[in-house]
Amino acid sequence: MKKKIMVVDDNRMILKFLSNLLEGEGHEVKTCEDGLSALSLLTTFEPDIVFVDLIIPKIGGDKLCQIIRTMEHMKNCYLVIISAAVAEMDLDFRKIGVNACIAKGPFGQMGKHVLAAIKDSSDPSKLISEQEILGIASVSGIPVYARRMTKELLGRNRHLETILESMNEGIVEVYTGRVVYANSAAVKLFAVPLENLLSAKPQELFEDAFKSRIDVLMNRGSEKMPVVGLTRPLELNGRQIVIRSFPVKAEADTTILLMTDVTDQRDLEYQLQHVRRMDAIGSLAGGIAHNFNNLLMGIQGNVSILIQDKKMGDPGYDELAGIERCIDSGAKLTRQLLSFAKGGSYSLGLEDVNDIVEKSSSMFARTRKEIHVEQHLEEDLVMAEADAAQIELALMDLYVNAWHAMSNGGTLTVSTANTILEDSFVKPYNLTPGRYLRIDVADTGAGIDEKTVERIFEPFYTTRPMGQGTGLGLASVFGIIKKHKGIITVDSQVGRGTTFSIYLPAARILQIPKEKEKLRVISSGKLPEKGSGTILVVDDEEYILNADRAMLNELGYEVLLANGGKEALRVFDENKDRIDLLILDLIMPDMSGEIVYDRIKSLRPDVRVILSSGYSIEGQAESILKKGCDGFIQKPYNLNQLAQKIKEILVRE
Ligand SMILES: Nc1ncnc2c1ncn2[C@@H]1O[C@H](COP(=O)(O)OP(=O)(O)OP(=O)(O)O)[C@@H](O)[C@H]1O
Ligand SMILES: [Mg+2]
Repeated sequence: MKKKIMVVDDNRMILKFLSNLLEGEGHEVKTCEDGLSALSLLTTFEPDIVFVDLIIPKIGGDKLCQIIRTMEHMKNCYLVIISAAVAEMDLDFRKIGVNACIAKGPFGQMGKHVLAAIKDSSDPSKLISEQEILGIASVSGIPVYARRMTKELLGRNRHLETILESMNEGIVEVYTGRVVYANSAAVKLFAVPLENLLSAKPQELFEDAFKSRIDVLMNRGSEKMPVVGLTRPLELNGRQIVIRSFPVKAEADTTILLMTDVTDQRDLEYQLQHVRRMDAIGSLAGGIAHNFNNLLMGIQGNVSILIQDKKMGDPGYDELAGIERCIDSGAKLTRQLLSFAKGGSYSLGLEDVNDIVEKSSSMFARTRKEIHVEQHLEEDLVMAEADAAQIELALMDLYVNAWHAMSNGGTLTVSTANTILEDSFVKPYNLTPGRYLRIDVADTGAGIDEKTVERIFEPFYTTRPMGQGTGLGLASVFGIIKKHKGIITVDSQVGRGTTFSIYLPAARILQIPKEKEKLRVISSGKLPEKGSGTILVVDDEEYILNADRAMLNELGYEVLLANGGKEALRVFDENKDRIDLLILDLIMPDMSGEIVYDRIKSLRPDVRVILSSGYSIEGQAESILKKGCDGFIQKPYNLNQLAQKIKEILVRE
């Protein structure tokens, strides 16, 4: 019976021989010299039998067979491999769907096997039985040395293929504008089966927006090694890709494309940029708040004195009280800003975070009945070294935001979990990888768009109407978590809700420390009593010195002033024996508070020292307090607060 036959071989002699033989038998024969033209022929020609050489250019014989097997119209085609290297190739013929296999040998013998195969082809369901190669005996006539050479070359080929297959970069070979090879990384990036990639045009594999850039790459002209996507990566199935094209020497029709997935690298760069921006905003905000706080201190001191002599109803009393209220709001604002820049006032203890999360969210649930609150707490949550009050504040801010976002009701889910953070995750934040605990605060509210997410932790960034939000909520949460050497991230989709995740480092020690915090602020609520003794005030701001002098005189103390650290040492030296107490500013340009503290304590260990700063207890203050310093007062303070602090320190044994 007359059959339609396709023969694919790069050896023209064999093509000629087989065409003559088969046409002589009355069959219709078409020939191709490479895999790519075979595929293109198959779009118009539907053979009953295909003979394929294994080693052919542009898509190898084995790949070609695999592709043919995926084609619907070629389902019943009889596939025969005809190759000189069958014995050397170690191929699993069943896996690539071949029906028969013929070893190339003397033409006469080969012809016989070909005709036999055509006879067998009436049953295309018959697959090749294991290792059954027709004519293999005739191959044994070929000199041993030639066969060993073939084996070695094939081995080398396989070796190179293994390298290509194990690369992270996608490698694609394009011949006359069509893909003829793609390694597994490329297949993964394109996310289509290899058989669909082979013979496709590279442009077709990208979205419309990127097609023209691929064109540029393919028609590289005189450029040696064009690249696309370095500044603006191409997008492919959600990944960001840079593609370089390499010309192949002496093969003008061939281009190799190297595809690099830069998604993770880009994410990391973005994170790093974000961290840097937040740091910059932090120093700016911190600097402004610090200076502003000092000014408030100056105002507060003077107002305290003026109001001291007045009773309610006296002329000027209401106005002065008004000024004090403004100072209070100003101080609250600077505290929030400082907490963003530097974290809050800290008292670290070994804390069970589950306890904080459980209590705070239960309390929140009781006050906001319109939303549903769920808790999922990890049973063996690691302990954290944390300031419970600060963490609670941060959580409350997140709950309130979530509640705002769910104006029509919804669910607030708080959960905790143990987790290990990898180096790549903590790197942009300059933190140590390892054991962390994670708190998730998730809502089912309005969600946040991408633009807002980028700026959400900035101070004063708010989307609420004027007067309804300060935009300092998340900024201070950010500061608190940063101060705990933790990380806060946000994940949100508009309309789908928002999840804030907080990561806190796991504590190393597991026993509860005995002495949690030395300092406790006492509040007696009484009017300041007069005191006695000599106090040296050290500060680099004139108006603070003046305010302190006025207040201390008012309280009955003798006052010495020193503008800066150096002057402090001089004044102290001159009045060594009569000074009872120092009020010492921490940050001064000529000499830091810590150095002044050390020198003075070495001269007179019994002298009492109160640190005063606009910043909270942290860093330097913490380190001086650890050395045994007596107390800390946060600027701005009023007459009452100052009186109380001094009494507390002076009466202490
Ligand atoms: N859970 C959330 N869902 C949707 N949007 C949120 C959520 N949390 C924060 N946002 C957005 O982030 C912005 C900044 O939040 P942030 O807490 O810093 O300030 P605020 O809530 O606007 O003001 P404040 O906290 O001072 O009252 C909000 O205005 C809001 O647009
Ligand atoms: Mg808020």
